[in-house]
Parts: sequence; structure tokens; C-alpha cells
Amino acid sequence: MVMHAIEVVDGKLVWQPTEKPSPGFGEVLIEVQATAINRADLSQVAGGYPPPPGASNILGLECSGTVVELGDQVGSFKVGDEVCALLSGGGYAEYVNVPAGQVLPKPESLNMVEAAAIPEVFATAYLNIYMEAGAKVGESVLIHSGASGVGTASIQLCKAFGNPSFVTVGFDAKVRACQKLGATAGCNRRVENFEERVLEWSGDVGVDVILDPVGGRYLESNLRCLAVDGRIVVIGLMGGTDATLPLGRLMVKRQRVIGSTLRARSIEAKSKVMLQLLERVWPRIESGDVHAIVDHALPIEDAQSAHNLLRTDQTIGKVVLTTQ
Ligand SMILES: NC(=O)c1ccc[n+]([C@@H]2O[C@H](COP(=O)([O-])OP(=O)(O)OC[C@H]3O[C@@H](n4cnc5c(N)ncnc54)[C@H](OP(=O)(O)O)[C@@H]3O)[C@@H](O)[C@H]2O)c1
Repeated sequence: MVMHAIEVVDGKLVWQPTEKPSPGFGEVLIEVQATAINRADLSQVAGGYPPPPGASNILGLECSGTVVELGDQVGSFKVGDEVCALLSGGGYAEYVNVPAGQVLPKPESLNMVEAAAIPEVFATAYLNIYMEAGAKVGESVLIHSGASGVGTASIQLCKAFGNPSFVTVGFDAKVRACQKLGATAGCNRRVENFEERVLEWSGDVGVDVILDPVGGRYLESNLRCLAVDGRIVVIGLMGGTDATLPLGRLMVKRQRVIGSTLRARSIEAKSKVMLQLLERVWPRIESGDVHAIVDHALPIEDAQSAHNLLRTDQTIGKVVLTTQ
């Protein structure tokens, strides 16, 4: 059987025929209505972020759509269910196979475009701020790249769960957009020294948790504006892979530096994160406290333009691709 999917041909994204998958044990087959772009997709096209073993080579870490076929031992869904899912790959396609634990019912209050913008970034934000860093009510959080897909999800979770947040972004307009979403304060990383601003904001105490997708030279500044017993979770390396770790301060202030990726985790681990989203975040979406932030939605045939748009660093929230 044949379907259409985005393939990388000579570095360009092309919508073309390929083999349609069929669901294996414990998997559901989803007819994709929308998928969303993640920064990792740009790295995958550039050859720097290969899919984990066993995952589809097709791009796409999340989708929304309808269940059209069930593999053996799937009791939690039926054909016709409207869902959204966290994928290890394969979302830029008409059909994708997903382990049932990584699939959630589509929130009733969201349309398919909005639902596709939720799984990867909310799973990343929840996993790293609340499971890895273990943020408690009232603890402060520094969110770098606050207007990114992950950043906008993080701000909203912090607001919903009682954590004041400070964001860094690359444009003044993004500071305002993040504050509208619930960030307490923020600064423009291109013109201001975030370390000074965060210390000023936190009354020289520092923040309790830092979500850092930048890495590189941010590490030393991060440690200087991290409180005693603070935790930094490094989730990306947009600013480089190498850094100096001042061990004296780390030890005396009892600080922790945690590295974390979502995609390479086991199905069981990802399913646990998705269950947390269902129990703790889905009710917030249905009540209207937490929103899908969609900057642009484009037909999937325009995936190349959508990648170019993300690369400008001007987007706020998610860029979504629709298949129908
Ligand atoms: N570890 C994991 O499991 C995991 C999962 C998902 C995402 N991530 C990471 O989270 C980050 C955000 O992903 P996303 O898809 O949400 O991104 P996105 O929506 O594409 O936004 C990325 C933003 O990062 C900022 N940025 C770009 N290059 C930068 C640099 N060199 N230094 C500092 N900031 C820079 C830009 O915003 P400003 O100009 O406004 O700063 C850009 O708009 C990425 O690093 C991604 O790899 C990690």
C-alpha cells in the first residue's frame, strides 16, 4: 500500500509516494490530519539528529488525526477516535504508527491544527520542569527561548502550576508575548545580560530551576543565577556543545545539572509522561487555562517554506503542517 510523506531529496523537503505503514503489536495507525515542526527536525534534515534505532526515517515528532487501524493488544482506542500523539518520527506523512501509550484523546476544546501543536512541546516542558527538575509550587523557573514551542508550553505550565517564570528571548515583541502567556518577566538576550536581569528579578537569590536549550557558554551564567539547591536541565545545544563547569560553586550551593532528551527514551518512559499530561494538563486545556500556540499553519506540501520560517527565529509557538 502506498501513501504520501515528506522525504528529504537533495536537502529539500518533497511530498512524494512511499510505503504505508501497518500497526504492529501494541500500536495504532493514525491517519494524520496535522503535524508540527520542531527545531530537532531542522537538525535531522541537516544530518545532525538521526532517528533512534527502530524509529521511522520520516520527519515528524507529533501529530493529530484519526485512529484507522489497531495492532494486537490495543484496548485503549477504537477505530474512529480523534487523537494526538508523541512520535519518535513519521509525522510528516498521511499515516503513522504509534505505540498506544504515546497516544492521547484529542482535547475536545482544540481543533486538529491546535492538537498537533501540543504533544512534543508539552511533554518536553512537563518532563523536564516537573519530573526531572521536580519543581515545587512557588519555585521560580528561568526559561530560555521563552517564545519557542517548548518555551510557550513551559510558560503556561509554570503559570498553571504556581511557578513564577522569567524568560529570555531574541526580540522585544517576544518578551511581551511571553508575558501575555503568563511569564512574570523577561529580557531580550541580544541586548541585555540575562544573568544580571535574573539576579535582579530574584532579589539576588537566583532561580530554583532553569530550562536550558542553549548549552555552551550559557552554563556558567546559568550557574551564577541559580539558587542554592537549584537545578538546571539542559535540553538543547543551540549555543554549542562545550562548556566549563565551575565545580566549587556547584558543590557549595548544592546545585544539580541534568541532561535530558525525550525522543530516545523508552516507550514506557514516554507513556508515563503522556499519562501525566492527560491527568494534569488536559484538564487545564479543557478549562481554557492552557492554549495551543500556533504561529502559522501551512499545507504539508509547503514543509520547506515552513522550515525556512522556523529558521528565522521570528516564530512564537508552533508552526503546524496540515495534510488535508
Ligand atoms: N531534549 C529534548 O527532549 C527536547 C525536546 C524538544 C525540544 N528540545 C530543544 O528545545 C529547543 C526549542 O525547541 P523548539 O522546537 O521549541 O524551538 P523553536 O520553536 O524552533 O524556537 C527556537 C528558538 O530558540 C532561539 N534560538 C535559536 N538559536 C539560538 C541560539 N544560538 N542561542 C540562543 N537561542 C537561540 C530562538 O528564539 P529567540 O531568538 O527568541 O531566543 C528560536 O526562535 C531546541 O533547542 C530543541 O532542540 C529538546
